[in-house]
Amino acid sequence: MKPFRFIPFSFLLSSYLLFLVTCLNVPSLRSGQTSALVGTKLYFFGGYLVTTYDTPIAITDVWYLDLSNSSLFSTAIPTWYKDVEMPVGNVYASCVSSINNSDIFIFGGRQFLPNSSTVFFNSSVYRFDPNNNSIWSITNITRFNSTFITRNKMQAVIDNTRRVFIFGGMNFIVNSDNSSKLYYNDMNILDINNMSWSTLVIPQAPPCYNYAAILLPTGLIVYIGGTDYLSGVSPVNMSEIRTFNTTSFIWSNISVNGSSIGSHIGHSAVLGQNGDIIIYGGSKYSLDLDTQALPNLAVLNTNSWTWSIPDISPKNTPQPLHFHSAVLYKNYMIVAFGRIASTGDLFNKDVYVLDIQKFVWITVNNTATTTKGSSTSQKTQTNKAQGISNSSSNNGLYIGIGVVSGIVLIGIASFVIFLLFKRRHKSYN
Ligand SMILES: *[C@@H]1O[C@H](CO)[C@@H](O)[C@H](O)[C@H]1NC(C)=O
Ligand SMILES: *[C@@H]1O[C@H](CO)[C@@H](O)[C@H](O)[C@H]1NC(C)=O
Ligand SMILES: *[C@@H]1O[C@H](CO)[C@@H](O)[C@H](O)[C@H]1NC(C)=O
Ligand SMILES: *[C@@H]1O[C@H](CO)[C@@H](O)[C@H](O)[C@H]1NC(C)=O
Ligand SMILES: *[C@@H]1O[C@H](CO)[C@@H](O)[C@H](O)[C@H]1NC(C)=O
Ligand SMILES: *[C@@H]1O[C@H](CO)[C@@H](O)[C@H](O)[C@H]1NC(C)=O
Ligand SMILES: *[C@@H]1O[C@H](CO)[C@@H](O)[C@H](O)[C@H]1NC(C)=O
Ligand SMILES: *[C@@H]1O[C@H](CO)[C@@H](O)[C@H](O)[C@H]1NC(C)=O
Ligand SMILES: *[C@@H]1O[C@H](CO)[C@@H](O)[C@H](O)[C@H]1NC(C)=O
Ligand SMILES: *[C@@H]1O[C@H](CO)[C@@H](O)[C@H](O)[C@H]1NC(C)=O
Ligand SMILES: *[C@@H]1O[C@H](CO)[C@@H](O)[C@H](O)[C@H]1NC(C)=O
Ligand SMILES: *[C@@H]1O[C@H](CO)[C@@H](O)[C@H](O)[C@H]1NC(C)=O
Repeated sequence: MKPFRFIPFSFLLSSYLLFLVTCLNVPSLRSGQTSALVGTKLYFFGGYLVTTYDTPIAITDVWYLDLSNSSLFSTAIPTWYKDVEMPVGNVYASCVSSINNSDIFIFGGRQFLPNSSTVFFNSSVYRFDPNNNSIWSITNITRFNSTFITRNKMQAVIDNTRRVFIFGGMNFIVNSDNSSKLYYNDMNILDINNMSWSTLVIPQAPPCYNYAAILLPTGLIVYIGGTDYLSGVSPVNMSEIRTFNTTSFIWSNISVNGSSIGSHIGHSAVLGQNGDIIIYGGSKYSLDLDTQALPNLAVLNTNSWTWSIPDISPKNTPQPLHFHSAVLYKNYMIVAFGRIASTGDLFNKDVYVLDIQKFVWITVNNTATTTKGSSTSQKTQTNKAQGISNSSSNNGLYIGIGVVSGIVLIGIASFVIFLLFKRRHKSYN
């Protein structure tokens, strides 16, 4: 199909996405977002969507679900709440929620002007304070390592002394001499008590990105899967787990027995109370990201260092996702958004909940019919850090129009999405 044919479709698709976001108070489909729990609020930051042919748009909107509403864990339609927008569009960043639920720090990512594909860089670390008028700010960091600028596709963890550990990742903006993208094997540590940064290069670790990271209560960080970059890219062997001791700062490899687990890239992981790490999703190859990693769900026992594949009913099994996000709340692993494998890059708009005790999936119905909650709880504020003002949206006004025109648009747009997303957009791989 010739590109110009996409133009009217693209317009319709943009209208459709805008309609979803503006009118119906549910987040649009997206991928490459980052998420964190603050108390019972599950926050989603950034990510991207595709509105025109091959042009990804970085998202600035911030949404949360209130998990204290237990109906979320049945099959109810959840109520989404919108919060103050991010100062920049941010893709493949990583965030942590500081302990005692005070605030969230967002690290790195590919940054863009809001709702655009124009690269824009301001800061590598943003702070968001949901308990203080949802203020976004940039904090001065002592001894910040400038090689971290635009670092993306890495995962941050935070310990109970409020130290953040971020291993590896890659740069998005290339060197000033236009040399190729850089990949890292360093541990960047930010002490958020005094905002002091340090970088520890780990010579024996290969540069790695798109892995999953879990901090165990023993202070050991476990790195699972992802892509190594040595002379070229290669998927990490899932039988060889890398760890970092946050006390001794020693990096080591652990051989894992048990079930055979294929390579995983852009997957997610959560830690259960019993020390089991549950991983979900991901893609199989480092460059062709459209092939589903197998198995889709696996459990790493960190006491015996063995892999197992849970026997789980196919009921409500999520689409095979990658570059989604996951958090654990009580016994629930909450998986959201991301790209769907083997569909030529369709995006997912749904939220899935895995009960990690019973090992059953619950699908949260994200149908665009929820109209309450957001406009009343949406916060209005001027973002002083960035000079970006957010006015309370006139959501309510559009709801009536939205529901009617939505039925028509959804039909057209579904078809358009199908056509559009058949093409892979390589720019965000
Ligand atoms: C819980 O969610 C349901 C479905 O969205 C909603 O009808 C109900 O009002 C919510 N309850 C509370 C306490 O927020
Ligand atoms: C978190 O809260 C607990 C209980 O209030 C307190 O004992 C602890 O010192 C707090 N931790 C930090 C890092 O503020
Ligand atoms: C970005 O798009 C969202 C959704 O359409 C909108 O709510 C928001 O105001 C836009 N942000 C900017 C800075 O234009
Ligand atoms: C809330 O934010 C304001 C403005 O940045 C700051 O002065 C104040 O100390 C913050 N309050 C708390 C409790 O963090
Ligand atoms: C950050 O550092 C700069 C330069 O040292 C200083 O001018 C600025 O006031 C500092 N900002 C904050 C928020 O501390
Ligand atoms: C890097 O690439 C840009 C855009 O192609 C070009 O304008 C610039 O001169 C290049 N810089 C160097 C040092 O080659
Ligand atoms: C920040 O605190 C840590 C831990 O207390 C300490 O080791 C470090 O030297 C401090 N950094 C600065 C710049 O004060
Ligand atoms: C900053 O990070 C780079 C890349 O890992 C490393 O080579 C360099 O030593 C670091 N600089 C400092 C001051 O730690
Ligand atoms: C992964 O590592 C295991 C154990 O070291 C080895 O048996 C297996 O052949 C490796 N797999 C691949 C694909 O290299
Ligand atoms: C981490 O290193 C410290 C100091 O060497 C050691 O006491 C501790 O047992 C190590 N932790 C793990 C989980 O291996
Ligand atoms: C989701 O909710 C809508 C509206 O209530 C309903 O029409 C649809 O069948 C539900 N979908 C699922 C999968 O339960
Ligand atoms: C980048 O952030 C700084 C600190 O908040 C702010 O002063 C500056 O205006 C920002 N730059 C742009 C272009 O928004």
